[in-house]
Amino acid sequence: MTSSHSIAVIAGDGIGQEVVPAAIECLEKIAGIHGLDFDFVPFDWGSEYYLRHGRMMPVDGLNQLARHEAIFLGAVGSPDIPDAETLWGLLIPIRREFQQYINLRPVKTLDGVASPLASNEPIDLLIVRENNEGEYSEIGGRMFRGLPQESAVQETVFTRMGIARAAHYAARLASSRRGKLTSATKSNGIIHTMPFWDEVVAETVAEYPDVVLSSELVDALAAHVVLKPWTLDVIVASNLFGDILSDLGSAVTGSIGLAPSANLNPERRFPSLFEPVHGSAPDIAGKGIANPVGQIWSGVMMLDHLGHPDAARHLQLAFEAALRNGAGTRDVGGTASTAEFIKAVLEAIDTVPHDGPA
Ligand code: NAI
Ligand code: MG
Repeated sequence: MTSSHSIAVIAGDGIGQEVVPAAIECLEKIAGIHGLDFDFVPFDWGSEYYLRHGRMMPVDGLNQLARHEAIFLGAVGSPDIPDAETLWGLLIPIRREFQQYINLRPVKTLDGVASPLASNEPIDLLIVRENNEGEYSEIGGRMFRGLPQESAVQETVFTRMGIARAAHYAARLASSRRGKLTSATKSNGIIHTMPFWDEVVAETVAEYPDVVLSSELVDALAAHVVLKPWTLDVIVASNLFGDILSDLGSAVTGSIGLAPSANLNPERRFPSLFEPVHGSAPDIAGKGIANPVGQIWSGVMMLDHLGHPDAARHLQLAFEAALRNGAGTRDVGGTASTAEFIKAVLEAIDTVPHDGPA
């Protein structure tokens, strides 16, 4: 029986235009093998759309996206437009209105990719970033622009519900893995919101007797991610801390070009969004050298979310095999172009054994 899915595709800006079609080629091939049928529906939203229409997406953009089961996004951002416009005009409204309150970001060492760390210990950690509130709030303002007394205020917002649902999600994940959950905090310096975060996380995780919770100050945790990342299992963090820690995590595993992410609405009332952690990389856009792994891996997470773990695992093993065989792009020390790497992944899909146990 064929299982069909309608996927909204926003390739967006810069290398998004390169890595999204590359990843779709791989997804199409996997779909053919596993009896899936994807209807990839493109949306030309992003910075060029903004320059023509004065907004990142149409007024009814979210309604259009809501008709699809998932959203597959490349990146948005252009040197010609303030980043706040591109982010708040597209990505943040999608994450909020579709209640994608979990941003899941795996950090894993891959064979064939050198880590900048001296140790070869394998890293396998999941970052659960609270994705709807926290430091990324619209509350605040600027006054007296251009005058000596110019000032800016930005309020951080945490709710019991928002913290608890992120902590539940992270605790369930930790419980299915090595049972270790680390909460990123800063309750020594940020004396209202962060003690609240700590309390709600601790109360929530107490419901999971098989999960050991440790709370680490985010500065020390950043050092921990560099010095001993292999001791970490699942990290739960606020919007800002999770954002920073996941870029750091991808750096210690070799390249930001590798890192995937899923913006999840766990209740599935709304579509979830799958996108690499990296941005539009204007410095390498148009050169055909972008690493498509972060985008492909985001596709793996999408397959899992859509209920196709076998297809997900097959694609994961295929891109891992291509990297192991030395087919990587320049950012991971190889010489391949995006197209050459994709060719290696498509070949690996045919050759990699994928039915055995994980
Ligand atoms: P970036 O992630 O685009 O690039 C940082 C560095 O990593 C650059 O040197 C770039 O060449 C390299 N890099 C990134 N992805 C790569 C890949 N797949 N293969 C090889 N090298 C890769 O971050 P940056 O430069 O801070 O931001 C550029 C634009 O992207 C900005 O407008 C920013 O706002 C936007 N951005 C968008 C995001 C999104 O759409 N979710 C996330 C992060 C940034
Ligand atoms: Mg980031």
